[in-house]
Amino acid sequence: MLRQLDLAPEASQRSTATALGISLGRLNALLRATVEAGLVTIGERAGPDKRHRFSYSITSRGAAEQLRLRDKFLSRKFAEYDALHAELTGTSSGLNPFQHRTNPMQNNLAPISELYVSYESSQKLKVEAADLVSWDLTPRQICDLELLMNGGFSPLKGFLSEEDYNGVVENMRLADGSLWPMPITLDVSQGFADKIEPGQDIALRDQEGVILAILSVDDKFLPNKAREAEKVFGSDDEAHPAVNYLHNVAGPVYLGGPITGIQQPVHYDFRARRDTPNELRAYFRKLGWRKIVAFQTRNPLHRAHQELTFRAAKECQANLLIHPVVGMTKPGDVDHFTRVRCYEAVLDKYPAATTTMSLLPLAMRMAGPREAVWHGLIRKNHGVTHFIVGRDHAGPGKNSAGEDFYGPYDAQDLFREHEAEMGIEMVPFKHMVFVQERAQYEPIDEIADKDKVTILNISGTELRRRLAEGLEIPDWFSFKDVVKELRRTKPPRSKQGFTVFFTGFSGSGKSTIANALMVKLMEMGGRPTTLLDGDIVRKNLSSELGFSKEHRDLNIRRIGYVASEITKNGGIAICAPIAPYATTRRAVREDIEQYGAFVEVHVATSIEECEKRDRKGLYKLAREGKIKEFTGISDPYDVPANPELSLDTETVDVDYCAQQVLLKLESMGLIAGS
Ligand code: PPS
Repeated sequence: MLRQLDLAPEASQRSTATALGISLGRLNALLRATVEAGLVTIGERAGPDKRHRFSYSITSRGAAEQLRLRDKFLSRKFAEYDALHAELTGTSSGLNPFQHRTNPMQNNLAPISELYVSYESSQKLKVEAADLVSWDLTPRQICDLELLMNGGFSPLKGFLSEEDYNGVVENMRLADGSLWPMPITLDVSQGFADKIEPGQDIALRDQEGVILAILSVDDKFLPNKAREAEKVFGSDDEAHPAVNYLHNVAGPVYLGGPITGIQQPVHYDFRARRDTPNELRAYFRKLGWRKIVAFQTRNPLHRAHQELTFRAAKECQANLLIHPVVGMTKPGDVDHFTRVRCYEAVLDKYPAATTTMSLLPLAMRMAGPREAVWHGLIRKNHGVTHFIVGRDHAGPGKNSAGEDFYGPYDAQDLFREHEAEMGIEMVPFKHMVFVQERAQYEPIDEIADKDKVTILNISGTELRRRLAEGLEIPDWFSFKDVVKELRRTKPPRSKQGFTVFFTGFSGSGKSTIANALMVKLMEMGGRPTTLLDGDIVRKNLSSELGFSKEHRDLNIRRIGYVASEITKNGGIAICAPIAPYATTRRAVREDIEQYGAFVEVHVATSIEECEKRDRKGLYKLAREGKIKEFTGISDPYDVPANPELSLDTETVDVDYCAQQVLLKLESMGLIAGS
């Protein structure tokens, strides 16, 4: 009856009784009881028709009772369904009744569908999947899979098929017309793709071999990567991290098809701060948050961000979700462990009842405008109603001509274009600056007396410089605890580890200069120093490798791995392989720059000079064809385009070359007086 009165409060008693299938007398008895219990109030209505003399309205207590009864009914039905399911299949249905719902749910807070099967089914599937061909997911694919499975990438149900992929690349739409700006694809090697046929199921495993999901492959296709780069990232320039990834890291073949989720990827860090879309939605429901504005970030928060987010929340009269990305961000960013400790420190500055933080396991692509739309859709899936989009949102930095990839407000423009369809509102970011005279942050476009006040700001580059050189970071810029955290993980450069990476032809003098440099650094003391010379590595780490492109890449990646570990732990790694390929050198640079500086030194001795010296007699053998694939003779060498230092060894001696490297290290702040 409560439901019926809610639906048609003005209806006559007779039609209400008819709709409920009860007599007028029974209805009157029920009405009396509910009025006495304070669930319904009866009001008089003016009008000639006596049958419409009364109107009914449900009190707040009545509304709560209505929900309680509805939930009770649904729980009973769920239980019946579950029992029937178990009788027919031997497993439970996996449906969860919402037993403790006390509020009606808004659309954005109702549970979103996930791709996981029930616990019982997952146990069975895991056993069956052990016999399937399996693909070991890359770190980026694991991030994508997690958000696919937990509904963060809803409406996607798996990795894109060719038709969906083409629609997304060409016009940001899936084949069914839904808006989706980012290709979420499973790229695999040619060798693996050759073993797979559409119609086949494959197991998707994490890097420890744990089966996370099953992919029912319904498509296998070769993407046009240059086209994908142009359309999605607006350029095919490999200075863009995602374009570089596309061409140099991602496999050549894409597999598409629906996913059956078995289990979430395992995270041991910050578990309490990680939430699936449904967990966040439930949290918002529980706290009675209706309007939520999210702030996306991949950087530590300083006072300007705190001020901006707080203002955004106040302006929209919304609660605030700090939603940092902890999956993969731009190479060279502050690591997420440090960032999360910084976020925790800033969280205290917000009123606890209005703000929360949750970590998002997203692999960013730095795709500017398209990325902003993508971020918006992901946040909507997490129950958020408003999203802050800043200047140069998810910008990848400069292209190889030194220009920005996107205009500063392109992301806001594209978001605005699709805002209504997305169902999440944009809160455009205001660039906040510190006004010294008023000792407060203000949006730059709202400062009327710009000429009369002192405006202070510290750019990201300037902040990095100050941290690297151990210089002061003023109180108006950041919080003490944040700066302390940053200094802890990023001590001044002169105390950090670094890698000096010599590259050049065989016989160019790499090893000799590297040895001289090592001795000089050891003489200075302070940091452990390791030499990874080409010959030494080939003897100890890569003895089974030859000189094909594949083997050389493997060799250099091994050197890069060891050097990155040394750098991470505060030591100095000196590497001296030929390292003929630019893409491999770049990959090693990216690995190492997460932890410290990478100093590429091109030992630019010409091939003619190396051949003339021919200290090991190898060039002669190479010319005679007795050594195949010899760098500079019968195998290519990509001359470094932007090395930190280029050494001319033809006219100067070894000692001077080593000195030049030392001076370079000093100018980069990597060595300093104690
Ligand atoms: S690579 O390309 O970086 O993996 O090479 P690297 O590990 O530095 O090994 C180079 C040393 O191996 C010897 N050698 C050859 N070099 C180039 N091409 C071919 N085909 C080849 N075969 C053997 C050579 O002595 C190199 O030593 P260095 O110290 O550079 O002279």
